[in-house]
Amino acid sequence: MSKIGKKPINSFNNTAILLHWLVAFLLMVQFLIGLDMVDIPKGPDSPRPFWFNTHKSIGIVLGCLILFRLYWRIRSGVPQSPAGTVSWERIAANISHMLLYFCMFIMPVSGLVGSLFSKYDLLFLGIRIPKFFEHDALIKELMTNTHQWTAYIFLAIISIHILAAVKHLVIDCDGIFERMMPNFTNLSNSSGEKTNGGKS
Ligand code: HEM
Ligand code: HEM
Repeated sequence: MSKIGKKPINSFNNTAILLHWLVAFLLMVQFLIGLDMVDIPKGPDSPRPFWFNTHKSIGIVLGCLILFRLYWRIRSGVPQSPAGTVSWERIAANISHMLLYFCMFIMPVSGLVGSLFSKYDLLFLGIRIPKFFEHDALIKELMTNTHQWTAYIFLAIISIHILAAVKHLVIDCDGIFERMMPNFTNLSNSSGEKTNGGKS
């Protein structure tokens, strides 16, 4: 029987769901700005610095949200796979989630470290962040390359992740997709209670 639209009991808690969708939305905005801003020509009236500073501010907010998300995952655990999930799928899901978290960590860190070692000011929401490092072209270059290549790898993994989620929704109909959907009828689940007996 199809489980579309039904919320499984063994589900992510509401805080984890809110963080998943907030981070996913901000990451998409961040990708759009990042990929676009690097092609804006430099010049006295260029909007380039505005978009770079916006990208850096959103990136720093994202970095904090991602750290909190990792803390929340360790604190509240993850739901077990539904009975009947084949082991290769369980392993593939675990690996892809680990890779997503890895990219979510590398992106803000490489962006921030690169900006700290660049010759430009680092502004967060218009406030200048003090830089305790001298401009270092080599570190900046290394971080720029890391940031750029991780961005492309990250986009590829996100695409696979979305395809897998849609497969669970329309082909498998196994309730996996619904586990990451807001549960408006049971907000008491947002307290961070353990969903797998404490394992993560
Ligand atoms: C949190 C997730 C982040 C994502 C998904 C992201 C994504 C991107 C993307 C897609 C680009 C364009 C790469 C290219 O085609 O060259 C870019 C460039 C850039 N990003 Fe980010 N970014 C993030 C965080 C940050 C942070 C926290 C900072 C700095 C505080 C930052 C600073 C920059 C800078 C300065 C560039 C221009 C290229 C360079 O000099 O490295 N980013 N970012
Ligand atoms: C930037 C985009 C996204 C990122 C970085 C991302 C990341 C993640 C991560 C790391 C998990 C594992 C949660 C955990 O174990 O803590 C997850 C779960 C999930 N995501 Fe995403 N996600 C993104 C977008 C999406 C989109 C667009 C969809 C829907 C089409 C989606 C559907 C799901 C579902 C259904 C789960 C639960 C899987 C399960 O129960 O095992 N995600 N996501």
